[in-house]
Amino acid sequence: MATPRTIAIDGPAGAGKSTIGALVAERLGYLFLDTGAMYRAVALAALRRGLDPDDGEGLGVLAREVRIAIGPPTVRDGRAYTVLLDGDDVTWAIRSAEVDLVVSQVARIPAVRDAMVAQQRTLAGRGRVVMVGRDIGTVVLPGADRKIFLTASAAERARRRGEELAARGEVRPRQELLREILRRDRLDSERVMSPLRPAQDAIVVQTDGSTVGQALEQVLQVVRKTEAEQRT
Ligand code: CDP
Repeated sequence: MATPRTIAIDGPAGAGKSTIGALVAERLGYLFLDTGAMYRAVALAALRRGLDPDDGEGLGVLAREVRIAIGPPTVRDGRAYTVLLDGDDVTWAIRSAEVDLVVSQVARIPAVRDAMVAQQRTLAGRGRVVMVGRDIGTVVLPGADRKIFLTASAAERARRRGEELAARGEVRPRQELLREILRRDRLDSERVMSPLRPAQDAIVVQTDGSTVGQALEQVLQVVRKTEAEQRT
């Protein structure tokens, strides 16, 4: 098989998908799309308009109306990409604690997912891509050439999220972050539409105790290994 066109990386909150996905894309010269940023942008739009996170109909309309654009960084402030919501730079706003709190409720609405998945598939159709999220290998790109399920224990993920926030000067108690991660894990895994789970043909990569560099190597090895296996 030729080099992969589509690489799907799924996994729970704080597993390092965004960091590792961006590095894999950079290494291979592929487009990188963090689909979590899209659901976060819809959640932020809902908060700004005062929409109830349980208002499925209103959220569906909103998801179809808003224009979300994700592209290369426009400011050098540590961001991996820039997110525009109707032209407004929301790159950091979508990472707020308020968004963390409602995003999984917003993301379980079928009409919201339909609108996002359609855009994600269009982007994937344009060329070589590393796409990260919860349902990429199972629903968005079931035919992806490589499927990786990146995971780590909840305690490790809470620790990493704490470090990530601290690097941006935001301090939040570890216990609170752990509770938040477990709550999102539960909502994301138990929802009816596109629940978080590894695709049958995904390779699970456990990153407890791995540094970013080591986790990147583990993922790149999977990409290369499957390549080698498919040649034989
Ligand atoms: O960065 P973190 O792992 O905390 O989360 P994220 O990838 O930014 O995703 C935020 C939320 O969006 C998740 O908790 C899911 O509820 C939702 N999401 C989803 O439902 N499907 C995706 N493909 C990506 C994210």
